[in-house]
Parts: sequence; structure tokens; C-alpha cells
Amino acid sequence: MEEVWAKAYSSSANLGSGFDVVSLAHDAYYDIVTISAKRGKGDVKIEKIEGPFSSNVNENNSAVYAIKYMMKDLGINNYDILIKIFKGIPVSSGLGGSGASAAASVFALSNVLDLNLSKEQLIKYAGYGEIVSAGVPHYDNVAASLLGNLAVVGKIDNEIYAYSFEIKANFIIFRPTDFYLNNKTQYMRSLLPKYVEFKDHVQDSVKLGILISSLLKGDLKAAGKAMIDTIVTGSRSKAIPCFNEIKEKLISNGAYGVAISGAGPSIIVLFDKNSEELLQIGLSTYKECGISAEAKIVNPAPPASILYGDDRSFPKST
Ligand code: HSE
Repeated sequence: MEEVWAKAYSSSANLGSGFDVVSLAHDAYYDIVTISAKRGKGDVKIEKIEGPFSSNVNENNSAVYAIKYMMKDLGINNYDILIKIFKGIPVSSGLGGSGASAAASVFALSNVLDLNLSKEQLIKYAGYGEIVSAGVPHYDNVAASLLGNLAVVGKIDNEIYAYSFEIKANFIIFRPTDFYLNNKTQYMRSLLPKYVEFKDHVQDSVKLGILISSLLKGDLKAAGKAMIDTIVTGSRSKAIPCFNEIKEKLISNGAYGVAISGAGPSIIVLFDKNSEELLQIGLSTYKECGISAEAKIVNPAPPASILYGDDRSFPKST
């Protein structure tokens, strides 16, 4: 039986104005997925789920969902698939946990069966796995986990377009540690408006354009301003613990931009200097809000990768 190991990093989708379009892969956390294939009838089974965040993952997870859809779509029914997951990314935190598992699993399956899929096909299958948590497919987290760095992705006329860019920027991730909401992404998407004012659409489109261009050019001050959108964050911020307090405190202490990470509750902050100071200010603001949180300074992460040799092991949980 062939076994392939794949690793994929966490990500922060949206970065404010880039709803469902922009996502940053970062080295805060990662998942590892192994896929074994042997001749069979097309069964897909989880063998084990390990790691610090395994307890919130059940059999019906994004990896299984993505693999089943991929096999059906490609007409693969002559292999049985066994999946092992190391869940190193917190679940339901807005850090692309479900996307990374789905990304690693479709990448590993494509490798184990030598399918030679395009990046757009991998994104399509992994994005389907997001239905488990979001109710609908979305491609931003999986694109970042698969392609690495800053991903820009979207569907036009049912076709996926995806790009990734190396950027030089530092971010802090704040993660409330005791927050858990069932179907969180689905709930956060239900808060979004059906209709928006044209002027808000125009302003947020301006910000999206500036966000991507300024990150590519290294104009971090402009990027920070462009992160602060009206439509999506305006509809969700009240549901994100301590968001307004953190945003106000960190911006007034020199952060360039503050956004909800994906569908939250984590928060992503763009900064240039005083990182340790901002991190501490953020943590004490959470304390004042009565919320326990952890913070990490993160860098853009590389693309999903296949693991070989000694790298083929699940880290021991602490
Ligand atoms: N773009 C998605 C959302 C990301 O904000 O709903 C969810 O992880």
C-alpha cells in the first residue's frame, strides 16, 4: 500500500477587504495528512486523528469531504483510501484549519495516485471540503494553504483563477482560546448583508485593489488602511470578542491594520515595528475584555509540501 504525507499551513482569509478572495498562509500552525491507497471499491476512512486540536475534529471533516468529492468527480472507484490527520491548527478559530486539512489531503491523494492535477483542480476539490464548516465551498483558505504566501483566488464563469505572491510583511495573530461555536463559519456568513450600498461597494473595492497592490509593493501603511473594510467587518465585528477594543488600541499604538482573521474569532494585525509591545498591548486588552487569548508573530508560509524521510512523523503533542 502506498502512503503519501503532506503538510499544509494555517491561513488568515479576507485580510479585511478581500472577502473570499485574499488569504495569507502563515507559519503559526500546520496540519499533516497522510493518505494511503490500495486497490479496492472506493471506500474512504479515517484511521486516526492526532495532535493538539484533534478533539474537535470528527469523522465528517473537511479532508474526508474533499477526498470523497475528488474521487467522485474524477471517477476513481477502484481504490480504498485511509486517512491519518495531525491536527496542529486550532479548529473553528478563523485560521484556516479546515482548509489546511482539505488542502493537504487532496494534495496527498493527487500524489499517491499520480494524478498530476493542476493547482486550480486541487483548489476546487479542497474548497469543496469547506462545505463541512461553511455550508458552501470557498477557496481562499485552501488556495493559501496549497500555494503558500499571499493567495488571490476566485471563480469567474465557474472557472477558478488562483495566484500567489511572496510578500515581505509581518503580522501578529491573536487567538481567543476558549471560544468555540458550532458551525461558526456558517453563522458568520449568515451575518453578511444580502444587499449593500453602492458607495460601500465602491469604497471596499478600492481597498481590495489597494490592499493587494500595496502588499506587493511593500507599502505596509497603505495595506493596513486598506485592510479596514466596511461591509464584511461591519457586519461581523460585533460577533467577534474584543475586536473593536483591540483594533482601537493597536491602531493608536502604531499597528498599520487590524482585521478579523477569516470568519474569526482570531484577529490579524499588520505592523512594521514594536511587535513585542503591540503583542503585549493586545493581550492585556483581551484581559480587560475578560477573554483568554494567545498571540503569535507570524511570517508568510511556504506552499503545501510532500514529506519524505525523517519528516514523515506526527509531532508529539505537548
Ligand atoms: N472567506 C471566508 C469567510 C473564510 O470569511 O467566511 C472562512 O474561513
